Amino acid sequence: MQSAEIRKKFRDFFKERGHEIVLSASLVPENDPSVLFTTAGMQQFKPYYTGKKDAQKDFGTLNTASVQKCVRTSDIDEVGDEQHLTFFEMLGNFSFGGYFKEGAIKYAYEFITSPEWMNLKIDYVSVFGGEGNIPADDDSEKIWKSIDSNIVVKKAGRADNFWGPTGDEGPCGPTTEIYVDGIEIWNIVFNEYYQKPDKTLEKLPIPGVDTGMGLERLAKVVQKVPTVFETDLFTGLVKVLPQDINPKKKRILADHTRAISFMISDGVRPSNKGSGYTLRRLLRRVLAQFDMQYIKLASDWVMNKYGSHYPELDRDSIWGVIEEERKQFIVALNLGMKELDKLEHLDSKTAFQLYSSYGLPLDVMKDKFPNLDIEKFEEEFSQHQQISQSGMEKKFKGGLAGHSEMEIRYHTTTHLLHQALRDVLGDGVEQKGSNITTERTRFDFMFPRKLTEEEKQKVEDNVNQKIKEALPVHNMVLPKEEAMKTGARHFFDQKYPDQVSIYFIGNDLQSAYSKEFCGGPHVTNTSELGHFKIQKEEAVAQGIRRIKAILE
Ligand code: SER
Repeated sequence: MQSAEIRKKFRDFFKERGHEIVLSASLVPENDPSVLFTTAGMQQFKPYYTGKKDAQKDFGTLNTASVQKCVRTSDIDEVGDEQHLTFFEMLGNFSFGGYFKEGAIKYAYEFITSPEWMNLKIDYVSVFGGEGNIPADDDSEKIWKSIDSNIVVKKAGRADNFWGPTGDEGPCGPTTEIYVDGIEIWNIVFNEYYQKPDKTLEKLPIPGVDTGMGLERLAKVVQKVPTVFETDLFTGLVKVLPQDINPKKKRILADHTRAISFMISDGVRPSNKGSGYTLRRLLRRVLAQFDMQYIKLASDWVMNKYGSHYPELDRDSIWGVIEEERKQFIVALNLGMKELDKLEHLDSKTAFQLYSSYGLPLDVMKDKFPNLDIEKFEEEFSQHQQISQSGMEKKFKGGLAGHSEMEIRYHTTTHLLHQALRDVLGDGVEQKGSNITTERTRFDFMFPRKLTEEEKQKVEDNVNQKIKEALPVHNMVLPKEEAMKTGARHFFDQKYPDQVSIYFIGNDLQSAYSKEFCGGPHVTNTSELGHFKIQKEEAVAQGIRRIKAILE
């Protein structure tokens, strides 16, 4: 079954069951500054869950369904492997007081298993097992068992079986998820709660349903192929590209060209901030790795494969923007290449400088200097976030010009996070590394065990509190000995120059919340940061934990 038929069947199935089929919203969310892109089908329906808008009035029914284009960039660096995508289509059905758990589960079961529809076998399902004050979702378990007494029902806590809200506050609730061939294909959310900005949950007056199923994953299991890239959604491109381009690069070209084409057609333009920066990053990654003939092949493929489903796709503007960005990129590249050509040997420090000053892609440097140590380069990148002033000779002027606004915000956030961890977990917390992208900060530190939910919550609350206090961020340069005396955090095994730069967050050095040896750059006030949220806490090595956190 081809992807076009899957989309059609999904729409037909819900249409026959009284749903209004709603068009995909734009990739750029309207009236929702908390997110850069549309990341889920439910986003366009938020006001219907809270009662701000009336679905009966707008759609003639309380139930809708859609095929929504989405972009999620939190795993952007993972793209190129066999599963991660930045752009995907989400099939979803929604109810705003029409039906609830029983209706949603029965529809999902029928659509997935019936020979008339997807004809798949469910491995198992998962339900919310309860956590803290939120009770387990026993109803969903009973409903699954009443449909199929042999079905395996697994239970999990808040991290796995509770969804939302998007942003600071909003509808959220327990989920039940369907697994086929070992992968989660359908996430069914029961929006029973409204999470307030202080994180407390209130029961929503009318409970709602929000489901999401990635078309690419569904196509993979329906078409019984090893990866999403072997579904008909991608093979059209993969087949026309020459054999000798390696599979990882092909996957990057396919994924990024889809994302780029849809973003441009929804009005995003390359820039150095927000959604424009994401687009620039995707574009430059593709431009750095591929000849224009292949980029052309890829964008023609997107038009042919998706044009009839998404009439907004506009060949002229897609091509115009790619061309224009190519010209700008060439200028930046030429400057960087000139510096590269002067070198006989490329060490990781210099590579990092070229990267941050000119946006010279790692791949380009690696092509010319195949021995370049990528791991060291990455270490350099993390260290630089902390102490760019110290070990580095400023080889090129404007060494920090490559930092985007988001990276700067995450940099200041990382200082707050470091201090909050020490406040909550004690002074044993010692930084082992950090890595910042435009989408998140990653912070490694010494701590012997997993953090509890309460500890994570406290860390989040502490950081958000400091953001709310709108503390100024100050920089001063001091002789090394004096700098040490201030008690500012620094690496003990690091050599520092005679003069070091310190950043402190607070009204004066004495009372500052955080003090660190650091070359910057930083925001000028914590109020510029947004809402802080921990996404993941995990072990990276014995005694070393890693936190990934985002600003919303
Ligand atoms: N909002 C949920 C998700 O994104 C279900 O649609 O997974």
